[in-house]
Amino acid sequence: MIKDIVSALERYISNLEDSTLKEATEYALLAGGKRIRPLLMLQVIEHYKLHPLDYVDAAISLELLHTYSLVHDDLPAMDDDTLRRGKPTLHIAFDEGLAILVGDGLLTDSFKQISSHPLLTDTQKIKMIDVLSSKTGSKGMVYGQVLDLASEKQSISKDRLDQLYLFKTAYLLQASLMLGAIASNQIETIELWEKLGYHLGIYFQIQDDILEHTSSPEVLGKSKTDDIREKPTYVSLIGLDESHNALNHHEIQIDHYVHQLDIKNSMITQSINEIKKRKA
Ligand code: IPE
Ligand code: IPE
Ligand code: MG
Ligand code: MG
Repeated sequence: MIKDIVSALERYISNLEDSTLKEATEYALLAGGKRIRPLLMLQVIEHYKLHPLDYVDAAISLELLHTYSLVHDDLPAMDDDTLRRGKPTLHIAFDEGLAILVGDGLLTDSFKQISSHPLLTDTQKIKMIDVLSSKTGSKGMVYGQVLDLASEKQSISKDRLDQLYLFKTAYLLQASLMLGAIASNQIETIELWEKLGYHLGIYFQIQDDILEHTSSPEVLGKSKTDDIREKPTYVSLIGLDESHNALNHHEIQIDHYVHQLDIKNSMITQSINEIKKRKA
């Protein structure tokens, strides 16, 4: 399925005007990356017995939006990072103005991938765009990024950090699962997917904190600057052992919702297990 997601990204890129914008967008999108968000959406669709590959062009909306968030997150005015997905960050390889515009293009085109999809009904498209924009806009991921920047050099409580992680990371993972439920016409299950996405998202971000502390930029493929920027993280706040305990807490909740959604034997559970084992 990852191969199909990459092909869809290539298809998206091939439709851009030949320009430095196209080159830089290709650089950002095809640099690698785990493709977790589109994969989760497609695996929800697969679970409900539709053909996931019919929806791959809509699923890459999540990867476009995620990649925009990374390109902007790495800018000097934000985390000022130089390595992403194993390569120099976009503003280093090209320039800052172009990096801002690549992000703008990816964000905007993300919604077009949904609105132009031939198999989705208008009602599904509106619902998907509503969920995606709510989870990532000024009351969603963007607000999480604002809280993240404001947290530098501050001592904050664990509850506040959890809130930040919900906005910054979990919301887009929730949206990925919820979009799968909408495309599958399983609206009545959407709240369960949202709850699964909550625990998966916080779990994912705590892992990121642990990996930042225990791994290397070479393995992670990205810069490690949380300490330099004095960002509060799970590890800085409660230490490594307690961070592992927090992972366990969310893992129990993830298993609970896997049971509730009856997805134990679906491919999606394999992806969740791969997330649990991830090294980058
Ligand atoms: C990185 O996300 C940013 C976080 C939310 C922690 P991923 O770990 O999914 O990054 P890629 O897409 O695989 O590069
Ligand atoms: C990235 O958060 C999350 C978003 C871009 C929304 P971080 O700044 O914590 O992640 P990395 O370490 O740069 O991937
Ligand atoms: Mg950041
Ligand atoms: Mg960052």
